[in-house]
Amino acid sequence: MQSIKKIKNLKGKKVVVRVDFNVPVKDGKVEDNFRIKKGIPTIEYLVKNGAKVIILMHLGKDGSSDITPVIKEFFRLSKLSKDKVEFYKNVRSFKGEEENSKELSKGFAKLGDIYVNDAFSVSHRAHASVVGIAKILPSYAGFQLEEEVKNLSMVFDKPKHPFLFILGGAKFSTKMPLIKKYLKLADSVFVGGALANDFLKANGCEVGMSLTDTEGYGIDKLLKNKKLLLPIDVLVQKKDGTKEIKNSHQVLKDETIIDIGPQSVEYLNGLVKSSKLILWNGPLGKYEDGGDLATKIILKEMTKARGITIIGGGDTVALISDMKIENKFTFVSTGGGATLDFLSSGTLPGIKVLK
Ligand code: 3PG
Repeated sequence: MQSIKKIKNLKGKKVVVRVDFNVPVKDGKVEDNFRIKKGIPTIEYLVKNGAKVIILMHLGKDGSSDITPVIKEFFRLSKLSKDKVEFYKNVRSFKGEEENSKELSKGFAKLGDIYVNDAFSVSHRAHASVVGIAKILPSYAGFQLEEEVKNLSMVFDKPKHPFLFILGGAKFSTKMPLIKKYLKLADSVFVGGALANDFLKANGCEVGMSLTDTEGYGIDKLLKNKKLLLPIDVLVQKKDGTKEIKNSHQVLKDETIIDIGPQSVEYLNGLVKSSKLILWNGPLGKYEDGGDLATKIILKEMTKARGITIIGGGDTVALISDMKIENKFTFVSTGGGATLDFLSSGTLPGIKVLK
């Protein structure tokens, strides 16, 4: 990947920048501006060096979302002049964006002289504004994309040891390749969240009404791996709404696991203290139902850790923003699905095309 610092003369050039400002918007207001903040340095650099920037972004899945609240938030945060930065339409409103159509890619390319990808978190999509356009214009990587690649690569490129990987959330099928890969690369892989329910179930534990994935995905084999760590205790919610801490093998049929328990937290905190590298993806509990305590305690512990701390994006980042601790880790990824894909394959379609 070529850095934007390698662009010789930016004066008078029109630079098309693909950003990922796909942020939550409610009642016309941006709820979390983390991604917008992370996109500003690249745009500022280009403008300061004499370029005019044309921004390509998507908001929502189908292109119907109005990007005006994002534009307002961007100018509020960046203080850049509207003459220097122009927002194009929501790219997903164009037919051909998701199909990576040649026609649309050419249309996007006509908007400028140079293309910059600063949208790591959408680089797992071979879309026209991510891959197609990069094949037509001279293409470069923005600062955020470079940062993501540099920092996330630390976990698979000669990682420091002891290396602890904490994995939570749901969607077992998408996370299985990660578990397999990091059982080889890391020294311990702690599995929490809904993912742990599948392991506990395969281990013969009752998980009651807790969320599980029905397919097996070869879990049995992984259970034998000594590096795999599961919650020792859990917080369950009973039918009447009350909560109780239990050993993982004592859950009843009408109970739902909503978090890991205090013994598991203590154990993990010990590992956090002694590790030289910690990678985390996904919450350890059902935080929307009050199962956010363990995740918050361990995140706090991680902010004090001496080792390298990397937050691999997704829902964990929203919690970190709420807790206002986003600057207390070595790196917090802006990606969700893209981070998972990058961690498991080491590259992404939108990155490969820049080489
Ligand atoms: C994200 O929010 O993870 C990225 O913007 C990608 O969005 P998508 O899943 O709609 O492609």
